[in-house]
Amino acid sequence: MSAAAVDPVARVFEPDALGRAVRVRGWVQRVRSSGGILFLHLRDRTGTVQVTGKKDVLGPESFAATEHVQVEGVVDVEGTVADDPRAPGGREVRARSVRVVDPGVPFPIFQEQTEEFRLDKRHLVIRSEEHVATFRIKADLLRALRTFLEEEDVLEVTPPVLTGNPAEGGAEAFQIDYFGRPGYLSQTAQLYLEAMIAPHERVYALTPSFRAEKSRTPRHLTEYQHLEVELAWCDLDQLMGFIERMVVSVCRAVADRRPNELRALGRKPEELRALSAPFPRLDYGEAIRRLAAQGFPVAWGSDLGTAEERALTLESSAPLFVTRYPRELKAFYMLRSPNDPRTVEATDLLAPEGYGEMVGASCRETNLELLTERLRSMGLDLADYEWYLDLRRHGNVPHAGFGLGIERILRWMLRREHIRETTPFPRTPSRHTP
Ligand code: 4AD
Ligand code: MG
Repeated sequence: MSAAAVDPVARVFEPDALGRAVRVRGWVQRVRSSGGILFLHLRDRTGTVQVTGKKDVLGPESFAATEHVQVEGVVDVEGTVADDPRAPGGREVRARSVRVVDPGVPFPIFQEQTEEFRLDKRHLVIRSEEHVATFRIKADLLRALRTFLEEEDVLEVTPPVLTGNPAEGGAEAFQIDYFGRPGYLSQTAQLYLEAMIAPHERVYALTPSFRAEKSRTPRHLTEYQHLEVELAWCDLDQLMGFIERMVVSVCRAVADRRPNELRALGRKPEELRALSAPFPRLDYGEAIRRLAAQGFPVAWGSDLGTAEERALTLESSAPLFVTRYPRELKAFYMLRSPNDPRTVEATDLLAPEGYGEMVGASCRETNLELLTERLRSMGLDLADYEWYLDLRRHGNVPHAGFGLGIERILRWMLRREHIRETTPFPRTPSRHTP
């Protein structure tokens, strides 16, 4: 093992690195040799650099060993930084020594393979430039969300993911065997967050949520990352204000921190930076009239599916709040609208350009009788919700909250065709491996 400290590949491209000795190590993207010189491209977490090595400098054994390193094999290189206009980035490392850490075997991933094969080999495919850029952006999106929430004085809490009753609706919950009793994987942390506003007033959680929907659509996963916020003393207008500030803030943060990755994925950072609040708001009733005028077979009471959501936003570059849906379409806990008992104080935020719902939000019903009646009429077992009803008996205050699907917002931000490209190991009805 060499004694020299390891340099990040990015070091090679710093102005004062020219002529300096460096040690870089990483994964080989390609290697070839010609006329006693080998050229390889090496990748580490900070970038990619060309390494050249001469047979008479490296020695015939080391030269031969390096020449036979496969794509995604690993090498550890010591050498000198030199300018070379033919090298990507105009710089290269001229190797003095190369140690092969892992020669690898032929890498099975090529461009032309079927999607199924690539999903089977997902553990290797995630090394692609596209995925590297995507998951760096995702990390910064999560960081930006946490920063925003901290600035807004919202406390991060840790609700359970294993639960005794399904919260959003029984049909879409994954049931498990919990030591001989039924258990469920959480579809939402909302009910627990509602319990935590009495001591903390403003709380959020970032947890996996699970949906046992057999929907094979480009926007459904069976496991996704769910950011949920619950705010005491909040009405629908304040909630929409909060959500749009959050979306604007995280789009700017990602554009500032990851301009190169965004460009590599074909997204101009300026487009994300240009987003501004307030977002347009459209009453559900008005949305139905618009859709009917466009020829959609919808009437008041119809749910808005993928096609309808798409039509409402296809032409727009701003997200759209659709507000005050019919009560019958929505979950039991939503607050009945004061001016129209047929509707609830709820909104979905639709992504621009037809990408569909990315946030589901509502004020919560505080009236114990209405809540009980709603649970009953939906055929839910009151005993399962007894603890939740307790929250309406002790320190009951107006409150509201929302859930943001991390992969949904990322799919729009990166304009990915399929939501699975926004998560490293996608879970869909047909796949839970690797
Ligand atoms: O609209 P949903 O079902 O709302 C709730 O779960 C509320 N209890 C949240 C709350 O108020 N705390 O889900 C919220 C968001 C959706 O807007 C969508 O972005 C995302 O979660 N989502 C999914 N993302 C990927 N795959 C799926 N199958 C999703 N289902 C919902
Ligand atoms: Mg929803």
